[in-house]
Amino acid sequence: MHNDIAEILITEKELQSRIAELGKEVAKDYEGKTPIFVGVLKGAIMFFADMVRATPIPCEYDFMAVSSYGAGTISSGKINLIKDLSADIKGRHVVILEDILDTGNTLRFVVDHLMEKEPASLKICALLDKPSRRTAPIEADYVGFTIPNQFVVGYGLDYDEIYRNIPYVGILKPEVYKK
Ligand code: XMP
Ligand code: MG
Repeated sequence: MHNDIAEILITEKELQSRIAELGKEVAKDYEGKTPIFVGVLKGAIMFFADMVRATPIPCEYDFMAVSSYGAGTISSGKINLIKDLSADIKGRHVVILEDILDTGNTLRFVVDHLMEKEPASLKICALLDKPSRRTAPIEADYVGFTIPNQFVVGYGLDYDEIYRNIPYVGILKPEVYKK
């Protein structure tokens, strides 16, 4: 599995130290508000688990699942809702935790969907941002790392459902997905 990685882009240590900073920032912004963190399955789960532990304020959490990619490395652009929230977010402060903001199609869909539920506020926290690929009008309020236009895996991110359990973020060797 590790042999398929061309280069480690973000080490475990770099992930943890940036998440510690992000958690402090979010905790400060939501002091006294008891936000609901919404994780977007499945990619965000590692980031979600580390991020909520780095944010030392009372909070709730919930998950939703959407699909866009199929087995390729290019977003299909068509997003399907696979699992909706179980919590009622009406009047609540919501923070979406997502693994990566790429074209923006996924988060555009997620934000539009959640806004219909009338939260008091809605912000986006994305671990990774690939701004060079953006086609949908959307930006994150909190970004962990801005990365170049390369397909990355690990720390929750997959290629064809594999590599999610790699503890760092790495660039996948192109020959793996060109096979
Ligand atoms: P969009 O293009 O909708 O993409 O902003 C967001 C979703 O696409 C997946 N994605 C990636 N997954 N390596 C991955 O493993 C990548 O480089 C990558 N770029 C986008 C991801 O699931 C994200 O939620
Ligand atoms: Mg994802």
